[in-house]
Amino acid sequence: MLTSKIYLLFCIITGAKIHVNDAKQMTGLFGNPIGHKTDLLTAGNHGPALLQDVQFQEEMAHFDRERIPERVVHAHGTGAFGVFRVTNTEITKYTKADLFNKPRKQTEVAVRFSTVSGEKGSADTSFGEPRGFAVKFYTEEGNWDLTGLSAPMFFIRDASQFPSLIHATKRNVTSGLPEPNYRFDFFSLRPETLNMQTYVYSDNGMPDGYRNMPGFGVHAFRLVNKQNKHVFAKFHWITKQGNKNLDRETTFKLAGSDPDYAQRDLYTAISNRQYPSWTLKIQVITDDMIKDFKFNPFDATKIWPIDKYPLIEVGVMTLNRIPRNFFAEVEQLAFCPSNLVPGIEPSPDLLLAGRLFSYKDTQRYRLGANNQLIPVNHPKNQINTLTDRDGFMRTDNNEADAVNYYPNSFSSVRDNPKKRDSNITLKADSNDEIVVFRFDDSDDHNYEQARDYYRSLADDWKTRLHQNLAFHMKTIRQFIIDRQLNQLRLVDPAFADGVKQELNNFRK
Ligand code: HEM
Repeated sequence: MLTSKIYLLFCIITGAKIHVNDAKQMTGLFGNPIGHKTDLLTAGNHGPALLQDVQFQEEMAHFDRERIPERVVHAHGTGAFGVFRVTNTEITKYTKADLFNKPRKQTEVAVRFSTVSGEKGSADTSFGEPRGFAVKFYTEEGNWDLTGLSAPMFFIRDASQFPSLIHATKRNVTSGLPEPNYRFDFFSLRPETLNMQTYVYSDNGMPDGYRNMPGFGVHAFRLVNKQNKHVFAKFHWITKQGNKNLDRETTFKLAGSDPDYAQRDLYTAISNRQYPSWTLKIQVITDDMIKDFKFNPFDATKIWPIDKYPLIEVGVMTLNRIPRNFFAEVEQLAFCPSNLVPGIEPSPDLLLAGRLFSYKDTQRYRLGANNQLIPVNHPKNQINTLTDRDGFMRTDNNEADAVNYYPNSFSSVRDNPKKRDSNITLKADSNDEIVVFRFDDSDDHNYEQARDYYRSLADDWKTRLHQNLAFHMKTIRQFIIDRQLNQLRLVDPAFADGVKQELNNFRK
C-alpha cells in the first residue's frame, strides 16, 4: 500500500490521475473541512459576496501575510546543507572549540551564499561586489556562524560607516533607479574602500557561480585553547572546484537570460550528486607578531599576507543537500557573527563589534523574537536559557524548568564556570593594565548601609519592619526563610531575631 505522500509524488511524476478515494480531505487552517474551494459565498448567482464567507477570509488574510521583510543586505541568496569534517587537528593547539577536537570529527552545516546589495528578485550575477559565504556549524556546544565573503577584506573598518556604505550601493532615494553616483561618491570620500574596490572590480572579483569561489571570514577572531592561551586567526575557505570568475559582459548577459545563474548552478550540481566542497584553513598570529604589522592587524580592510602568515589546514566542508522548502530553510535561515562557541571569541576588530549586535537585532525584526526556534536556526544541543521566556510564537514549555529567574533554588540549570569567556588584558594610554572579564560583583559591601539604616531606626519602626517582612515571608518554604534570616543576621543579629519572633507570632 503506497503512503499518500509517495502516491501523490507518483501521480505528479507519472501524470496519473489522483484517485479520489486516496485524496486527502481539504481543511482550513484550524482543521475545518472545506466543501467547495473555488467560489465565493454569494447572495444569488452574481452576488453580492457575503461577509460570512469565513473560508475566503481566512485564506485571503493568510495570503496577505505571506511575505516577511527581506534581508536589509544579502537579500538574494541560496542555501545548501552538508557536513564539515576535520582533516588536521593542529588547530587544537590554538582553540578548545569542540568541533575541531578529534580527527575526522563531523559537524552538520547550513550554508547560504548571496549577493550583497540587490533585492531578493535581482540577478545573482551582479558585478562590483563580493558574494556572501555564510556557514552555520551545528556544534555540540551550540551554533558557530562563520559569516564571510568571497573577498578577503571589507570596504570599511568601522561599524558606524556600515549603513552609509550600504545606502550608497542601493537605489536612488528619489527615483528608485540604480544610482552609480552614490557608490563612487562614498568610495572616493572613504579611501579605506580602495583595497576592496581594487579586488572586487578585478578579474578575481566576479565568481562564476557559488561553487567556484573561495570564502573568507575577513575578520580576525581570538582563538583560546584549553590552557586559556590565545592567538588571533583568520579563516579561509579554499574551493576544491577551483576559482573561476566571469567577465563583465557575461555577467550582464546572464542577468538578462538567467538571473538565478549561480543558484541554478549550485542546485543542479548537488542534484546531480556533484557535491561541492571547500577546505577550511586558518592563518594565525600571536600577540608578539602584532608588533611586526605596519598596520592594525584587526583592521578588516587589510589582509594578512599569506607568505608571512601561512595557511594551516583544518577540515573539509561538503554540501550534499539542497533545501526541502526554500522559505523554511533559506529565507528563515539566520546567521550571526555573535554565534560563537567556547574557544572562538571576537578580536578587537571595530567592524566585527558592530556585526555582533546588528545581525540578531535585524533577525528579531525580520523573523521575530523567537527565531532561534525555527528548525534551521535551532542548535542541535538543548537550549537552556532559563531567563529568556515567552514572546510571539513561543509554543513550547521554554525548553526549561518552570523558573524564569537566576539564581534560583528550583531549577537544575546552572551556569558553567569552565565555559566562562577568557579574560583579556588591555594596555591603557597611561600604560595601566585594564582587564576585560565578567567580574563577580555579588560581594561588594552588601551589608553596611543596610546595617546603618536599620540601627538608625526607632524601636517602633524596627518592630513594624520586622512585622512587614515576617508577614510577606510567612507562607514561603522553610529553607528560604532560613537563608533569608541568615542574611538579615549579617546585617544585624537583632534584625534576624526580630523577624523570626514576628514569624513565630504569625504562626501562633
Ligand atoms: C559593521 C559591518 C556590518 C554590518 C552592520 C552588517 C550587517 C548585516 C545585516 C543586518 C545582514 C542581514 C542579516 C539577516 O537579515 O539575517 C547581513 C548579512 C550578511 N552579512 Fe553583513 N554586515 C556587516 C559587515 C559584513 C562583513 C564584514 C561580512 C563578511 C565578513 C558580512 C557578511 C554578511 C553575509 C554573508 C550576510 C548574509 C547572511 C545570510 O546569508 O543570511 N557582513 N549583514
